[in-house]
Amino acid sequence: MNLSGNLSRESIIRFLEGRGSDSELFEAARGTLLKSAGSGVFLRGIIELSNSCRKNCFYCGLRRDNKTFSRYTIPFDEVICVFESGYAKGLRSFLLQSGELLVDEHIDHVERLLRWISTNLEGVSMVLSMGELPIGILERLKKAGAHRYLLRIEASTQELYEMFHPGDGLHEYDDRLRSLQTIRASGWQTGTGVLIGLPGQTAENLADDLLFMKEMDIDMCGMGPYLEHEQTPLWNRRSELGQWEEREILTLRMISLLRILLPTINIAATTALQTLDPEGLEKGLMAGANVVMPNLTPIKYRKDYNLYQGKVHVEDTLDEVLKILENRCGEIGRDVKLGSPGDPLHFTNRMKEQAGGWTE
Ligand code: 5AD
Ligand code: SF4
Repeated sequence: MNLSGNLSRESIIRFLEGRGSDSELFEAARGTLLKSAGSGVFLRGIIELSNSCRKNCFYCGLRRDNKTFSRYTIPFDEVICVFESGYAKGLRSFLLQSGELLVDEHIDHVERLLRWISTNLEGVSMVLSMGELPIGILERLKKAGAHRYLLRIEASTQELYEMFHPGDGLHEYDDRLRSLQTIRASGWQTGTGVLIGLPGQTAENLADDLLFMKEMDIDMCGMGPYLEHEQTPLWNRRSELGQWEEREILTLRMISLLRILLPTINIAATTALQTLDPEGLEKGLMAGANVVMPNLTPIKYRKDYNLYQGKVHVEDTLDEVLKILENRCGEIGRDVKLGSPGDPLHFTNRMKEQAGGWTE
């Protein structure tokens, strides 16, 4: 099937509503990926640095008002150990993730970690996902060695965004959008993403999410199914949710459609997708994803990083995890690219274009 990056909103909606052929869609997306970016699967080691958050998103288990678990920050030396062992096994990209925490202590901690990496480990691409940060802090962290920033827009339709965030001045749609635009405009490899399967969310909303990402011309995307959590306000609306199968197929369609719209970006097969289905990894990759994020958070902290319920907790060693990933990817004809930071081709091309009018 010949599906191009100029897919209309109507045809996107048609696929999202299941009125098109899923197998043809997935195949077209896979074809686009192989032609544009190749069969490589890039690994991004994720470290859930701190579960503290000043925000109160209605869907998230880490929200400020959830007092049913303890808050942690992983100390410097423990994070360094994780970097060193990951690096020794060939990982060249790490994602530092935390709640949104604007206190100096946290920012200083991240800055020191980035400086340590820049000084001690060569050829590593550092990704940050720590919420909306003022431009001054972003610049500081970039100077310290970070290259990529992930800030999910969560829901690009303002009305929907406002339905899932408190109207307390701390969760303004315009602020989030501006923050993402600032990141995009200040030289970061820029990632965003959305929640899929929220109560009340329509195929039109999801189509607009995809077109939003196309319009923003992002470099990376991490989007996954919404999964309910008992200690959140959104738990009350769980009866409105689609079955897991429904949220899974929607997520896979979203991955494929985005791959077709933006052929050279990095798209992750997210943990949330793998939580829905033990074969979520393979299905995500087969639908057009090319990034997997093994969790490197030391085991003792993991139970306290519950964005949603049922999050998979693998207790294998990193060696075992990598072997399993290589086998699973190999079985679907894909190869794990160790030793490479896996910069999104989309960004590399964007930079070339800026430098000399070069076009993709
Ligand atoms: N289900 C799925 N993803 C969630 N996130 C937060 N809560 C949930 C949930 N209940 C995602 C958000 C956030 C990222 C860190 O985790 O999209 O950006
Ligand atoms: Fe905090 Fe992010 Fe959870 Fe919102 S989604 S409560 S910002 S960790």
